[in-house]
Formats: sequence, C-alpha cells, structure tokens
Amino acid sequence: MNHKPLVLVSSNRKGGCSKTSTVFHTAGEFARRGNRVLLLDCDPQASLSQSLKPFGSRAIEQLNPERSVVALFDDRMDPSPENILYATDIENIHLVPACDALTKFNYPDPTEYGFLQDSLRHFVTEVSGDFDVVLIDTPPNLQMLTWCALVAADYCLTPVVPEDYAAQGIVHVKRFIESVQQSRNGDLRWMGLLIAMVQPRLGIHSVYEQVMRDAYAGLVLDSNVPLVTIFKECVSNKTPVTLYKPKVAASKAIIALVDEIFERSSETHTGLKTEVPQPVKKTASRKPRAKTGTTKKTTTSSNRKAA
Ligand SMILES: Nc1ncnc2c1ncn2[C@@H]1O[C@H](COP(=O)(O)OP(=O)(O)OP(=O)(O)O)[C@@H](O)[C@H]1O
Ligand SMILES: [Mg+2]
Repeated sequence: MNHKPLVLVSSNRKGGCSKTSTVFHTAGEFARRGNRVLLLDCDPQASLSQSLKPFGSRAIEQLNPERSVVALFDDRMDPSPENILYATDIENIHLVPACDALTKFNYPDPTEYGFLQDSLRHFVTEVSGDFDVVLIDTPPNLQMLTWCALVAADYCLTPVVPEDYAAQGIVHVKRFIESVQQSRNGDLRWMGLLIAMVQPRLGIHSVYEQVMRDAYAGLVLDSNVPLVTIFKECVSNKTPVTLYKPKVAASKAIIALVDEIFERSSETHTGLKTEVPQPVKKTASRKPRAKTGTTKKTTTSSNRKAA
C-alpha cells in the first residue's frame, strides 16, 4: 500500500474554465470522505485562497507574502510549514495561500531557474506524512508556477469547457506536460480532460463534448461538471458543494468526479479513503432488568383467570 499523498494539479492555459472550482469542490469531497487535504494555491489571483475561511479577499490583500506560498519561491523567506500552512474552517482541509506578490515569480521560461523548479516538490515531500491528498491550483498559463506544480505532482487534471477555442488549447497543455515529464518529473501522468461548465441544453456543447470524446477517447473523463448556479453560492458561503448541499445534482457530479479520480489514480495510490464515514448508530438502550425481589406486574393467562 502506498501512503504517499495523491498530488493532483488542476491546470489549463485557458482562463475561466473551472480550474479553481475543480480544486475547491473536489477538496470538499475528499475531506468529507475523511482524507486529510492540503491545498496549495499557486495562482497569484488567489481565488482558491479567498474561497476558504479564515481568508477572504481583504485578508488575502493584506496577507504578508512571507506567510504565503511566495515563501517557497523567494529565497530570502522562510518556507517552513508553520509559517505558511493554515488550517481552514473546514475539517480536514489545510491551505497554503497565494497572494499577488507571487506574480513576479511566474517566469516564462522555468527551465532557466535551476533548483527553484523543485521548490513545491520539496515542500510537498516535507509535509507528505500529514496529508492524504494534495491539490494544487495554477494560473491560466503554462509558465513557472504551473511548471513547479507539475514537477511536484503525480497527476494533472485539465478542465475544459466544450467550446471551440478551449479545445484548441489542449495541444499546448499536452506539450507542456511532456516537457515536465522529460526534464524533471518522469512520474507525472496526465489524468485527463474534465469537461466542465457544460450546458446540456446548448447544442454546441453537446457537439463539442462528443468531438472531444472522439478525438481524445480515454483521456476524457467519463464524469463531467454541468454549469450550475449553486457554485457561486458555495463560494460566498466558503463551503464546497458536497459539504454545503450534498443531495443536489451539482454534488452528485462532484461525487462522481472524485470517484473517477480515485479510479484513475488507483494504480499508484491505494491508501485513500474512498467512502464517506457513516455515523455510528446508537444502539437502543436496554431496559434495566428488574431487581430480584421487586414485584413485576405481569398479566399471564393464569393470573388473568385468578383476577
Ligand atoms: N460548473 C460551474 N457552474 C457554474 N459556475 C462555474 C462552474 N465552474 C466554475 N464556475 C464559475 O466560473 C468562474 C470561473 O471559474 P474558476 O475560477 O473555477 O475558473 P478558473 O479556470 O480557475 O479561472 P482562472 O483562469 O481565472 O483561474 C467562477 O466565477 C466560478 O464560480
Ligand atoms: Mg483559477
């Protein structure tokens, strides 16, 4: 059994395709099943960090970069876990937050930056005993921050909106993953394409979903995530959907997605908690036995007769 955490990166060069939402909602579901989840926010926009308490947009604006993921990239800072790792309001979820100061480390050519490329990988190794799942959010580009995330990762998941321009960018993600595999992380695997923000009533979405399934076959996950209004509500409540409203259709989609992530990573990671723990049922308390000598009112056929 492999007890190394499952390290999964959400990445695509395209903006607004649900990278952060995928991390946010799957994190909630991994945690609901009892896995200890670490979130690494590697996007200077810090959307993921702002989605979780104790952070919000103001707290992130005021965050000292030394107490954020920036410390993993700036060698003047101390990146010890006690400096940059925070418990969130959600049981089982910890976060290393991002902030705008991360922007200047997103170098366009990562391979020029020597050991800095391994900064996230070293951190993940350092804290690996404390977590079952590590999810890394990345910016909408294929530069240093995404590179370091992939160097640290076991798998990359790529959310894609089933539309023309989005589908065209996939080849760049493929090449980028191949470069990481060839130069720094031979164990990295592309888990696949997650079709996200699907509007089933929009004909073009069904057409493109089919085009992508035909073109990429097994690389496209069976599960997909529909466009749902409840995701905005979840962000404003700072609660992932399956913890917020576990019975709604959007939760069912995230549950199916997490099931598929377990399935697709089962070759390398077998020690994860795949079931939601059931509350222990209270056994009906037995009535105390009548003490010897106490008169017990019983109505037997014989005493009925006597009466
Ligand atoms: N399945 C969905 N249904 C409805 N809204 C969604 C869904 N997925 C994402 N969104 C919303 O779309 C917007 C963009 O999503 P998100 O931030 O997850 O994308 P992103 O790829 O991380 O964006 P960026 O490239 O800016 O980092 C957000 O407002 C989010 O709440
Ligand atoms: Mg994002």
